[in-house]
Amino acid sequence: MRNSMSGFTLRDLEYVESLHGRLAPVFAKMDEEGARGDIPIVGTSVGRTLSVLVRAIGARRVVEVGTAIGYSTLWMALAMPHDGRVVTIDPDRSRTDRAREFWSEAGVADRIQVVSGKALEELPKLRGPFDLAFIDALKPEYEGYLSLVLPLLRDGGTVAVDNLLWSGRASGAVAADDESTNAIRSFNRRFVSHPQLDATILPVGDGLGVGVKLAR
Ligand SMILES: C[S@@+](CC[C@H](N)C(=O)[O-])C[C@H]1O[C@@H](n2cnc3c(N)ncnc32)[C@H](O)[C@@H]1O
Repeated sequence: MRNSMSGFTLRDLEYVESLHGRLAPVFAKMDEEGARGDIPIVGTSVGRTLSVLVRAIGARRVVEVGTAIGYSTLWMALAMPHDGRVVTIDPDRSRTDRAREFWSEAGVADRIQVVSGKALEELPKLRGPFDLAFIDALKPEYEGYLSLVLPLLRDGGTVAVDNLLWSGRASGAVAADDESTNAIRSFNRRFVSHPQLDATILPVGDGLGVGVKLAR
């Protein structure tokens, strides 16, 4: 195995962040509210990566599993054209109602449709094709989400999945043997060798899986 990872430090990450301009104030408010309410939302680096992915593949239709207060949704919606649409699924209405306020503040609420329900029940009701899917909800259900999302993606469409390094627990760098950790390990093996995907896990945030759906 040849590996060119050179052990970057927190300072390197801060350096990269410092190159970017200031975030729109709405992002800071969401960060603060997420931290205060102990709501796990993706970090800025994952948000930026999702934004780049949306633009790279020219995504006009996105499906998201796990909305919370709408932080990752907002990064994707802002990167889409005016007629782009994000369908985002979450059963927690108190969170998605709050998300809608943030999206309105950012001027993109009309690009986002919330489906209030459980993803394993709601995904089969959606009609594709979607250009991009982002998975970020219950870890033991990740394999189920992937199975339901793949038929909805167009060929060449992309699936992104959060938390695949699971704070060091997936690799065993941090010892763990709980249901979510074992589910993530099993998911990762399936994800990177999936016959319908060219996929890998980027060391961005808590490990961002990215896979492109192969043409049959
Ligand atoms: C990690 S948070 C999502 C964070 C969001 N993607 C972000 O970064 O801004 C996970 C969300 O999944 C939601 N959730 C829980 N069970 C779910 C289910 N069965 N289907 C879809 N979402 C679910 C939770 O309510 C929670 O808001």
